[in-house]
Amino acid sequence: MIAAQLLAYYFTELKDDQLKKLQVMVTTSGMLGIGFWGPITLGEEDVACHSYKWGSTSPPTGGFTALVAMASREDRHRLEGCCKKSYELHLAWFYSPIVFSIVTHQTLKDIMGRFRRDMEYGLGRDTNPTATVKMLPTFVRSIPDGSEKGDFIALDLGGSNFRILRVKVTQDKKQPVQMESQVYETPDDIIHGSGTQYSLRTKEGLKKCMEILTRLGVEPSDEDCLAVRHVCTIVSFRSANLISATLGAILSRLKDNKGVARLRTTVGIDGSLYKMHPQYARRLHKTVRRLVPDSDVRFLLSESGSGKGAAMVTAVAYRLTDQARQIQETLAEFRLSKGQLLEVKKRMRMEIERGLKKETHKEATVKMLPTFVRSTPDGTENGDFLALDLGGTNFRVLLVKIRSGKKRTVEMHNKIYAIPIEVMQGTGEELFDHIVHCISDFLDYMGMKSARLPLGFTFSFPCHQTSLDAGILVTWTKGFRATDCEGEDVVELLREAIKRKEEFELDVVAIVNDTVGTMMTCAYEEPTCEVGLIAGTGSNACYMEELKNIEIVGGTEGRMCVNMEWGAFGDNGCLDDIRTKYDQAVDENSLNEGKQRYEKMCSGMYLGEIVRQILIDLTKRGFLFRGQISETLKTRGIFETKFLSQIESDRLALLQVRAILQQLGLDSTCDDSIIVKEVCGTVSRRAAQICGAGMAAVVDKIRENRGLDHLDITVGVDGTLYKLHPHFSRIFHQTVKELAPKCDVNFLLSEDGSGKGAALITAVGCRQRELDAQQH
Ligand code: G6P
Ligand code: BGC
Repeated sequence: MIAAQLLAYYFTELKDDQLKKLQVMVTTSGMLGIGFWGPITLGEEDVACHSYKWGSTSPPTGGFTALVAMASREDRHRLEGCCKKSYELHLAWFYSPIVFSIVTHQTLKDIMGRFRRDMEYGLGRDTNPTATVKMLPTFVRSIPDGSEKGDFIALDLGGSNFRILRVKVTQDKKQPVQMESQVYETPDDIIHGSGTQYSLRTKEGLKKCMEILTRLGVEPSDEDCLAVRHVCTIVSFRSANLISATLGAILSRLKDNKGVARLRTTVGIDGSLYKMHPQYARRLHKTVRRLVPDSDVRFLLSESGSGKGAAMVTAVAYRLTDQARQIQETLAEFRLSKGQLLEVKKRMRMEIERGLKKETHKEATVKMLPTFVRSTPDGTENGDFLALDLGGTNFRVLLVKIRSGKKRTVEMHNKIYAIPIEVMQGTGEELFDHIVHCISDFLDYMGMKSARLPLGFTFSFPCHQTSLDAGILVTWTKGFRATDCEGEDVVELLREAIKRKEEFELDVVAIVNDTVGTMMTCAYEEPTCEVGLIAGTGSNACYMEELKNIEIVGGTEGRMCVNMEWGAFGDNGCLDDIRTKYDQAVDENSLNEGKQRYEKMCSGMYLGEIVRQILIDLTKRGFLFRGQISETLKTRGIFETKFLSQIESDRLALLQVRAILQQLGLDSTCDDSIIVKEVCGTVSRRAAQICGAGMAAVVDKIRENRGLDHLDITVGVDGTLYKLHPHFSRIFHQTVKELAPKCDVNFLLSEDGSGKGAALITAVGCRQRELDAQQH
């Protein structure tokens, strides 16, 4: 009994301040409840109060029970058995060094595992309410990076002293932090707890112990003092062990979070137990290192208390707030108001008119190119056709079998071929020879080399068409730059290449823009589809315009599909007020500087580049990647649409975003990942909105053409950005709805690409030819 009483007294002697300090230290590392105080105090109430009670009146069995509770089941039986026989008799045994083995290496590993599980519970949204290890967020999101500065007042309440500190944080390398502190009301008895009582092992310790016990009013024998010594050793060793186990759990989690083979880290420690106990620190270090052998752990004693830390937290928060403000300022330029979007719509409408009018057509940026497609499919199309699909992510050769009649069917076979960059940017002859080489391979594959099939050529670039089967390339866009093609009829270039090959014959019937192919593909399923949109590598739209409005074709009756080539919108400077310096940088780095400015703000090929330019700027300003511009970040095109889409996915946790960035070679922290995600979101949102403003102009134009108050219409859509991006289509739809409230627009995703549409156009072309031949 008396030994336990002494144990309690020993803790009483720590004095409130030290007890609280312990609590602070342990609470800081999330360990108090389970590691040390819980069992001893039997609850989480005021620790000092409990220990004081033991020291004076109440029986000390509580402390003992607690120790038993912490032991393993076998040990518990052993201990309980002992206790039943005779408390005092077995006290010596209990305190003997054998009991050290209660916390064996294996037990500590076990506790470490349990603690990791409890950490998981604490972190989980659903499990947190019942979790014991609460893992409370602190909103401290970053450690100091040396760029903090300012004067701060820190209050340090809860330790031995209430301190008020004035902390000056500068960027001076020699003395970055200067502090002045004022200490208030340090009660006398706090000063007594000098820590000497920790070293009860020494002779002096024994003497001190004797003093303490005598002060307690007992008459201790030398054995009693020895027993107390044992108690203290056991309790403090076990505390160090348990804290090591939980610290080990934290370190192993950190290691897994970082995904590194070896963790190198520093643990900042404070607390009187750690500082004053003669063996505590050594034991803790040793055990932690043994428990996490795959980590290099350094322990750093906090010399200046947590007041300095509080000031640093404030300084970091200031830095982060300031950074956040500057980042938001940067991104604000991308956040367009409804007024600005309405302005984009209005300007698009003006450019549409300029493209359609004869006298302005030449200098118009939005070319409104006639396609000679006069109607959407009516189900009577029939035959076997070959189709080429060039200009998107993939180059495809297709065989399309269309069957008319009651049960309309379309059967498609296709093969994807690569177009190497040196071919895209080589000579025109090389490019067309490569295309013909792929067709030859496909015909071999299908066993159809001898059939002279009609061919529809989806060519996703601006072409001046004078008929269905003639298209003069206005300019290359996206990643193409083959020489000797601009200004040439690409159908002729293809025919010549087929001739050069001398292997097969083909009848090139139609050249089709991908927007038109998409509109036709969708119109085959849904007759109200009269608009085509591509939101992919490039950006463009087409729609059925009244023939009388297409002045360069002439005619009064009916409609014709116009390939708008809206990617060039803004090339005359009409969008300069919303273009940012990042858009300009992307333009300057592109193959076609000054051209396709709207496309460069809203298509998949360029969004990643805009993001990269912003990231470079934020890194230069020290807000990202620790201010280091890596080689990867300097690499053009690293942010493909698919990465953007992944990063912006709502289902991804930050750690996964970070993993994607790391996969891209960008060594990012979680903070970096948050910023990168926001940058991506802002850039893609603007893209979807301005694309929506363009579409609002188109549908309103169609409505006005038809003199309607309200228009119901379907838009056929294709493109990787629209299909893969998690938010693009939603924001795009929303914008169209907001900016063209008099139109009900149904968006239909093209599942079969534009090759099918090209084959349908070819089928109509063939039929028309037959009709023309019959008439002559
Ligand atoms: C379609 C077509 C392609 C077209 C593409 C746009 O499915 O068949 O020819 O260019 O969509 O998508 P992408 O994102 O690949 O540029
Ligand atoms: C081209 C268009 C094409 C669009 C989508 C643009 O770069 O100029 O003809 O429709 O990309 O592929």
